[in-house]
Order: sequence, then structure tokens, then C-alpha cells
Amino acid sequence: MEHFPYRNFDLCCERVPLRALAAAVGTPAYVYAKSALLESLDAYHRAFAAIPHLVCYSVKANSNLGVLATLARAGAGADIVSGGELYRARRAGVPGTRIIFSGVGKTREEMRAALEAEILMFNVESRSELRVLDEVARELGTRAPVALRVNPDVDPQTHPYIATGLRTSKFGIPYAEALEAYDEAAGLKGLEVVGADMHIGSQLTKTTPFGDAVARIAALVKTLRERSIDVRMVDIGGGLGVRYRDEVPPTQAQYATLLLPVLSELGVTVLLEPGRSIVGNAGVLLTRVLYRKETREKTFIVVDAAMNDLIRPAFYDAWHEIRPVDEARLGRPVERVDVVGPVCESGDFLAKDRELAESEEGDLLAVMSAGAYGFVMSSNYNTRPRAVEVLVDGDRYTIVRRRETYEDLVAGETVL
Ligand code: LLP
Repeated sequence: MEHFPYRNFDLCCERVPLRALAAAVGTPAYVYAKSALLESLDAYHRAFAAIPHLVCYSVKANSNLGVLATLARAGAGADIVSGGELYRARRAGVPGTRIIFSGVGKTREEMRAALEAEILMFNVESRSELRVLDEVARELGTRAPVALRVNPDVDPQTHPYIATGLRTSKFGIPYAEALEAYDEAAGLKGLEVVGADMHIGSQLTKTTPFGDAVARIAALVKTLRERSIDVRMVDIGGGLGVRYRDEVPPTQAQYATLLLPVLSELGVTVLLEPGRSIVGNAGVLLTRVLYRKETREKTFIVVDAAMNDLIRPAFYDAWHEIRPVDEARLGRPVERVDVVGPVCESGDFLAKDRELAESEEGDLLAVMSAGAYGFVMSSNYNTRPRAVEVLVDGDRYTIVRRRETYEDLVAGETVL
């Protein structure tokens, strides 16, 4: 299903015209399609139906409570990386028993909160962390269910900033040291070893790295069993890519088809941590053209969204499609432009040297595929209030986060 179709010359989110929405809630605005969220979650459920599994949506991709609650009601668990994400997941109604906690720098307080919420599993990333978690669990008179995040050392063939499974990365326990770390974990009274975990990177568009990494984890699980360490859960991480431009990432079904033979043979519950592939194409950033600025060198389209709203182009050189909200604009001649925001940085652009149909001041543009790592990475740089977030369901919409006010921005500060 097309979640952002043109209808009567207006770009819509499901059946809500973005022009009307912009008039009602203002710009910049993040707009999410509920049907797109549910469709991609469902694609995972169908693809892995043959084996016991739990989709733990990776909260970091988009942690809005409305988004989380929508996914939680459809059966998703949560993959969290901080006490803050634990708080959000619980507020959105995710039961503790469906939460897994990843991340290289968990604090004692965060561990305590997660133990009190009786989460499903901690993905532990170092031997030092094992020892601290053991202590914290014993202080609380409980045992922490743990998996070790193992770094399988495969090349995910993605952007270096989002590759995590290489030997040189800060993430996980090196594959060669995993057995020793498992032996240590098995001997700690405050821990219960329940799983094995991996995550090799994000925006992966090839299946081979997943296949190689899962094969290595499966071999490890078998060796552990020979040593009487019984792993019941295997967490295969997230990372499935989406189409931003012309990428052809594997579908959930293709991904599952590749991995199911190895995973079903293990007889474990499979945990998944998808983020981008659930929300990435479910959201757009809606923005209005403030000015056209033509110099001898270039044409700039200055819009009211900026790098503080969507940092991906500046940070990763990421490419996001930009569509005019008024379909009639598509009949106009194409020009080569930079789409830039009001922030005082040369890195403040949403698109560079982009061929776009001519737009005028006041026009609305939609920055596509902005549902993942969009709002969550936004900031208040230049004292810009963060955008409103809207969740669309059919022909209705809900403001799931109101636009920040200046008051919000200075709350907590003091004039000496
Ligand atoms: N699990 C772990 C342990 C992770 O570190 C991540 C993402 C995920 C799951 C979810 O991965 P996904 O399915 O979304 O690929 N800000 C970057 C992406 C950073 C990804 C960080 N880790 C971007 O905008 O491209």
C-alpha cells in the first residue's frame, strides 16, 4: 500500500492531505502513517511465523509514545539502550517481559530500574559490565537474565558511522573472547545466562552479512551447549535497510528465508531488534519554503526545517527524496538547487545539488523517509523549538507531540 499518495493533486499521508495538515499544525512537522508502522511490523511477524520469535522494536529509531504504543498494541516488544528509553517503553505499555536492554554503557541506576521492571534480557557488551550487573542483581536479591553481545566480525557493507559488527568497533565482545566471557558469566551468582546477541550495523542492503553473522552465532550457541551453557534465546539485532533512493534492501520475507534454516535448527526463541525498517518509510518531515535565493553560483531553497530537525543529510551525507506537496508543481521545469535551513552552519542542508521541480516561496515540501532517526536526533540548536509530531490513521490525525514553545526551551535554566 502507498502510504504517501497524491490524491486530487495533494500529497497525503494515508487519506490526510498534507496541505490541510500544515495549515492546522504548522511546519516543520513530522508526520507518521500508522498503517505503515503496522504493515512493516506485520511483515516481520509473518516472515518469522514458523519459529518462536519476538520483535523488539528498536526504540532509538523513533521513541514517540504514540508510535511506541501503536507498535506495543500490535504485539511488539522494545529494544532499549537507556533508562530513558525504558521509561518511555513502560509508559507506552510495553510489558517488562518484552523488553531487552542493549548498549555499551549501562549505569548501575539503569540496571536497577531494568531489573525492577523484570525485563526479558540484558545484552551485555563487556566483561566489566557482566561483573557490575552481577553485583547490582545480587544487591536486589535477584538474578539478571543475560545474553552476551558477540561481535561476529563481519563487514556489513554500510556507512562507517553505522557499522557496528567489525573487529575495530566499540560494540560487543570479540568473537574470539566470547567463550571465556560466557564461562565467567555462568559462574556469577547474580546472573542467569539465557541468550546470545548480535547486531552488525544499520541500513544493510545485502543479506550475506546477516547470513555470515548468524552462522557464527549459531556455531557459538552449539559450542556453549557442549559446555552446558544453555542458550534459549538468540537475538539477531536489527539493521535491515530501507529504500531512500534506489536501494533494493531485502524484504522481511527474504531476510527470514535466509536465516530460518539455521535458526530453527537451534530450537531457540529468536529476538529481533528492527528500528529503521519499521519506521523509516512511515514518516515524512513537512516543511515550507521561506525564500528562494539565487546567486551566480547556485539556487538555494531556504525552508523552515533545518539540520536541527533532521541531521541525517549533514551527518551521514544521507539522501532523502524531496517531493512537492502540490502535485501540479511536478509539471514545472526542473532546476538544480540546494535545499537549506535557517541554521547558521554551512552543513545545514537537507539536499545538495538536487534536481527539483521549481518551487515558490510558501510552497510545502515533504522530506521523505524521515520516520527513523529523524525527530529522535533533533536538537534545539539555534534555540529552535523541536517540531510537532503527528500520527495519521486513515482520514484522522493525532498530535502525538506538540511543538515545543520557547518556555519549554528555557525551563530548567536560571538567570543568575
Ligand atoms: N539494535 C542495536 C543494538 C542498535 O545499535 C541498533 C541501531 C538497532 C538495533 C536498530 O537498527 P536499525 O534496524 O534501525 O538499523 N542514526 C543512524 C542509525 C544508527 C543506528 C544505531 N543502532 C542513521 O540515521 O542512519
